[in-house]
Amino acid sequence: MDLQSLLVWIVILFNVVGMVMILLGDADILLQIRAKFGKSVKSLAGQVIWITGASSGIGEELAYELARAGCRLVLSARRIKELERVKKECMLRGRVKDEDILVLKLDSIDFASHKTAVNKVLAHFKHIDVLVNNAGRSQRAEWLKTSVQVDRDMLELNVLGVLSLSKLVLPYMIERGSGHIVNISSVAGKLGAPLSGSYTGAKHALQGWFDALRIEVGDKNIHVTNVCPGPVFSNILAVAFTENEGEEFRGEMNPNEKRMKTDRCAYLTGVAMANKMWEVWIAKNPVLFFCYANQYMPNLTKWLSGKLGLKTIKKMREGQN
Ligand SMILES: NC(=O)c1ccc[n+]([C@@H]2O[C@H](COP(=O)([O-])OP(=O)(O)OC[C@H]3O[C@@H](n4cnc5c(N)ncnc54)[C@H](OP(=O)(O)O)[C@@H]3O)[C@@H](O)[C@H]2O)c1
Repeated sequence: MDLQSLLVWIVILFNVVGMVMILLGDADILLQIRAKFGKSVKSLAGQVIWITGASSGIGEELAYELARAGCRLVLSARRIKELERVKKECMLRGRVKDEDILVLKLDSIDFASHKTAVNKVLAHFKHIDVLVNNAGRSQRAEWLKTSVQVDRDMLELNVLGVLSLSKLVLPYMIERGSGHIVNISSVAGKLGAPLSGSYTGAKHALQGWFDALRIEVGDKNIHVTNVCPGPVFSNILAVAFTENEGEEFRGEMNPNEKRMKTDRCAYLTGVAMANKMWEVWIAKNPVLFFCYANQYMPNLTKWLSGKLGLKTIKKMREGQN
């Protein structure tokens, strides 16, 4: 076989293996490889990791994953009672003592309180290795019926609150010469998610903001990871925004839906953190396949989404297909 044919066969082989990994996997190819051969979550042992929105869902499971790895944690959200429950559970499941976990009441949209919160964390742990911006709410609402106030509230919570906290934490990381900002974005930060216009816009904005930051601080040993999960079991549907200001969707998840288990999403997020990856996609199929299709064939994917129609895409999104 000549060199040219050999190269053609290698390219074909890579494409076939890649396609199989996409179709059978629940994360992008590089994250699947890192999960097998990269640094393990345990390599984060001893690090001070601040998780916002740690009182339920992905943030809660991430706390357990990191506690098992021996990380020191700041657990923040609005519901202190839930945070205390998560702390207790971390101590049961993990290699952590009482003083290794700081419970901190924090409302992401109360920007004026963020400085005091950062000071409390620094007073307790002296530094912050990783800030995980996880707190957030999704949405179920028709685009046209959504009030501009809801658009604004969504941006306040899912974007501006994240920026506010990150801008306060980053100077300390830069001064110390190391740090890591992890944002729990969404597949909706890559693709248009129907009936979630404000959410899609907010998560796209979040990624844009932090993709720009990554380049600016790249030479300062500051890392930025954008995590894009697809459908995951959590409390998110209950408290999702609707079209109307101040309203919660109160939706329930059916255990038979094809959503990812929360602990699996937390584990893969931990792998992405340990390996300081820039952007990861964590989703079961067909959502994972759609992410790849949209990345490499954006127009074809948009055409296909139109052909499949709202009903089918909605089912896919809710893990009901
Ligand atoms: N589940 C999914 O399918 C999915 C998919 C893609 C991305 N995500 C993203 O994952 C992240 C976590 O969501 P989840 O699915 O785990 O939902 P969840 O179970 O509802 O958890 C959301 C967390 O955010 C906190 N939070 C909400 N509003 C807050 C505020 N104003 N201030 C401080 N904390 C606030 C909540 O705590 P308190 O209520 O105690 O404040 C809770 O701990 C979100 O950013 C979401 O967009 C989720």
